[in-house]
Amino acid sequence: MAGTGAGTERSGTHVPGVRHAPVNGSPLRPALLEGERVLDAAGVPSARAEVEMLAAHLLGIERTRLVMVPRVEPSVVDSLGELVRRRAERVPLQHLTGTAALGRVTLAVGPGVFVPRPETEWLLERGLSWLRDRRDPVVVDLCTGSGALALALAHERPDARVIAVDNDRAALEWAHHNAGLRRELGDTPIEVVAGDVTDPDLLAECAATADLVVCNPPYVPEGTPVPREVGEYDPHAAVFAGVDGLELVPHVVARAEGLLRPGGLLGMEHDETHGGAVAALLHRRPTLTGVETHPDLTGRPRFATAVLSGQTGSAGSCSAQAVDELA
Ligand SMILES: C[S@@+](CC[C@H](N)C(=O)[O-])C[C@H]1O[C@@H](n2cnc3c(N)ncnc32)[C@H](O)[C@@H]1O
Repeated sequence: MAGTGAGTERSGTHVPGVRHAPVNGSPLRPALLEGERVLDAAGVPSARAEVEMLAAHLLGIERTRLVMVPRVEPSVVDSLGELVRRRAERVPLQHLTGTAALGRVTLAVGPGVFVPRPETEWLLERGLSWLRDRRDPVVVDLCTGSGALALALAHERPDARVIAVDNDRAALEWAHHNAGLRRELGDTPIEVVAGDVTDPDLLAECAATADLVVCNPPYVPEGTPVPREVGEYDPHAAVFAGVDGLELVPHVVARAEGLLRPGGLLGMEHDETHGGAVAALLHRRPTLTGVETHPDLTGRPRFATAVLSGQTGSAGSCSAQAVDELA
């Protein structure tokens, strides 16, 4: 999102990458210190980093360049104070800046859509490494939300055909919007499809064509206490999935079994407490092999992968007409 502008070129000094750096104006540092104090008092973790990200957002610069902007227009200090006030009320940082990143892609986010999380980088990385030796792959992102995984994968793999599925109208609108933004930036268009992972006929026309199915489903057990940013701003159906949080997992696995070509990979994120349950479910499926649970850097299991068994060969084609292409 564009910055609001920090001053006037006429009165300003030139700082590379900074559009406005006025000689006269309000000092930025006291505003940052005050913002940090307010966020800290409100219990916002990483208060210093967050106030700097908000200031960088307002100025339209990288956070690392803030040191090059000692003074700003007074209106910037006012705007920063307002953003800090809203953040102290636990409005998610990403709703205030309007963006979140996954991989090398920046996504527009806001009310009605799940904010992509850093944890999902692990699944993205694994998906990309799986595709490394596969040309013109077909990729399906089930539960796509903002389109994060689908668009991050499409950005790295312009040769891929990427299909992104969600059942929520607001999420689909965000995904569609993001798909349009990425297409304008030169990425290969993805297909955004309205569909439900519990539907056995979902993408039936694409059966046995996918090289990779990724999914970051809702997986928090109903009733689990969550931070206000999650409880009040992420859509309920994007976060919670039944009493044990595993409600959608068997459906995702069944859809992946139908969509993958033999030798294709399913990668599914899960709660750190679900490593055993998800792996057990995957092991029970006779069609799946090579089940693995993947820990993050702290050793907590964060996602699982499994390969569809059977002879690897040429896949059928996925009929484009049958797909509700919105992007
Ligand atoms: C945790 S969010 C993940 C979004 C995105 N993949 C990401 O990592 O940022 C889960 C998404 O699943 C979608 N969803 C929930 N139940 C679904 C269902 N039965 N079929 C399809 N999508 C579903 C929600 O609308 C939400 O967008």
